Amino acid sequence: MLRQLGQSEIHVSSVAMGCWPITGLTTLDTTKAASIRTLHAALDNGINFLDTAYAYGIEGESEQMIGEVIRGRRDSVVVATKGGIHRVGKGQDFDARPETIQRECDESLRRLGTDHVELYYLHAADKQTPIEETAGAVAKLIADGKAITAGASNLNLEQLKQFHAVCPLTAVQPHFNMLQQEIEEEIAPWCRENSISLCVYWPLMKGLLAGKLERGHQFAPGDGRAKYPMFQGDEWQKNHDFLDELRSIAHDIGVTVSQLVVAWTIRQPGITSALCGAKRDWQIQETSAAMRINLDKSILATIHDALQRRGPSVSRAAV
Ligand SMILES: NC(=O)c1ccc[n+]([C@@H]2O[C@H](COP(=O)([O-])OP(=O)(O)OC[C@H]3O[C@@H](n4cnc5c(N)ncnc54)[C@H](OP(=O)(O)O)[C@@H]3O)[C@@H](O)[C@H]2O)c1
Repeated sequence: MLRQLGQSEIHVSSVAMGCWPITGLTTLDTTKAASIRTLHAALDNGINFLDTAYAYGIEGESEQMIGEVIRGRRDSVVVATKGGIHRVGKGQDFDARPETIQRECDESLRRLGTDHVELYYLHAADKQTPIEETAGAVAKLIADGKAITAGASNLNLEQLKQFHAVCPLTAVQPHFNMLQQEIEEEIAPWCRENSISLCVYWPLMKGLLAGKLERGHQFAPGDGRAKYPMFQGDEWQKNHDFLDELRSIAHDIGVTVSQLVVAWTIRQPGITSALCGAKRDWQIQETSAAMRINLDKSILATIHDALQRRGPSVSRAAV
């Protein structure tokens, strides 16, 4: 069931829990108790891979909650965190200087209550620091035993190559889902050629592809999704036409839309894990079951045809 992370000795579940929604920063109705229950539900349902970042939460609440949950079961959990972005109030700022990476990693380890993480990513490049310098800082984390492997997120192919030349990458974290497949142009083929894992964010397109938001859904003030093109106007209507097709396919094989979407995602070539965000235990229980769903060729062909009818989407990354 577990998959090899890059060429390392680390093995991860194909569904990871994305630990952004539990911060409640752009996701509404979160409580610490519900978030802790969600983390436990992930680990109790076959997920061994938690994805977080220094910047998840005003004071790193995501890492702190993970720290509470993994105490006593640390050896069975693969923890990935990231540095290079920090919060400025509810917004974010970029700083990937080597000294910042070192400091943020130390703080992340303190919050997580551990002396190392299995995977440390550069969260995103800043505009001033040469990628090679940031990569050197991540290589030092590995040399110091604070991280076992290196990853990078939100970099273009050129930047990934520059990073990889200084600090070999084990994983790359871009966004990817049924409606946003741009990584197939450059990044995914390069990762496959170099045996680098793709651990993809937004597999559910922030809940859109979970299929539970109605066509007439009104986003509450403060719900961070309203600003993304996918959730607006014509794109929203086209996405709902596509979701209607997914609902019918999911119904025919007795799974939910989110399970169909995640099962499809983790079967795409080169994708090691889908980072599935959740803020409720039932959500991660539902998506984790995708690891046990097989999609045969005819289902994959039906999904392909539905995607052709959907046509290209207006895409946007997180940062
Ligand atoms: N590297 C980066 O820059 C970057 C950027 C973004 C994300 N990430 C990582 O990737 C992870 C995934 O991204 P994400 O959490 O933003 O989006 P996501 O996984 O695409 O969607 C998560 C959202 O979908 C909804 N959901 C999940 N399971 C559901 C279910 N079974 N039924 C109905 N709704 C369900 C929940 O929203 P509601 O309950 O609120 O509707 C949840 O907050 C993050 O948590 C983070 O670890 C990384």
